[in-house]
Amino acid sequence: MAPTSYIAPLGDSTSVFKGDIFKGKVLFCTGGGSGICRGMTEAVMRHGADAVIVGRKLDRLTQAAKELSEATGRTCIPAQADVRQPNMLKDAVKKTIEKFGKIDFVICGAAGNFLAPISGLSENAFKTVMEIDTLGTFNTIKATIAHIRQSKGSYIHVSATLHYKATPYQVHVSSAKAAVDALSAVLAVEEGPHGVRSNVIAPGPIGNTEGMQRLSSLADGIGSLFPLGRVGEIKDVANATVFLFSEAASYITGQIVVVDGAMEHMRQFQ
Ligand code: HXC
Repeated sequence: MAPTSYIAPLGDSTSVFKGDIFKGKVLFCTGGGSGICRGMTEAVMRHGADAVIVGRKLDRLTQAAKELSEATGRTCIPAQADVRQPNMLKDAVKKTIEKFGKIDFVICGAAGNFLAPISGLSENAFKTVMEIDTLGTFNTIKATIAHIRQSKGSYIHVSATLHYKATPYQVHVSSAKAAVDALSAVLAVEEGPHGVRSNVIAPGPIGNTEGMQRLSSLADGIGSLFPLGRVGEIKDVANATVFLFSEAASYITGQIVVVDGAMEHMRQFQ
């Protein structure tokens, strides 16, 4: 069964960054109701930011927003939107501006995934994941860019490492995430002159997530192959998020930060 609520709160002790580095900042996060993106949101909030989490399931978002607010002492509100629907995203942005007056950080994290071979994948199934991951990222950028220019803010796009080599049963996600990497790089180059940064975080397999559960048969037995001797954790991605949004990364843009404990380098020896 897929996890429905966050089961591993990060706690204050996981961060080596100063507590208030994001005081007064506002985060807009698609996919923030669960999994990795919820952990990323929690980490940014623990450093002082307020947040809006965006997703399709309002009950899950509402519960997550309540828990995130309680855990961090900041304000998190839900905004229901399907990232494939530009008008829903525009409404979510409007809600954010009405509540907080601005947006400093955007995490494009909403994603779809399941295992299927090309021969068993319908056109609509391929299109669905492309639309959630790639078009959804594009739509999120379009809906937020004016506000991010104003705040000279920053984007983080959640990609994957699946497409660095050929990962079976993942042609839809691999294609979608390759496009997300490209989108981020172009955004960084085009918007750099406006003071906007755009980076990608590419997590490897991360424990306790819906994505990992859905791909568990691909991941069977890989634990022993991790160079660092453990599977990735949500806090690993969350800490990279804090760094990339922070002033410490002010000259880092257009980059892909792989958070996989060097797993991707190991795969060539399998
Ligand atoms: C084959 C499938 C399928 C499956 C859906 N489809 N599931 N095909 N195998 N398991 C097909 C459907 O039959 C349909 O095609 C088309 O996809 C659309 O399905 P719908 O259910 O109508 O679409 P929708 O409800 O919009 O979205 C479905 C979904 C979504 C994309 C599967 O529910 C989803 O992915 N949820 C999971 C969220 C998630 O896990 N996020 C974390 C991702 S982690 P037809 O032809 O029948 O109309 C990640 C990183 C991975 O991506 C990296 C880890 C190492």
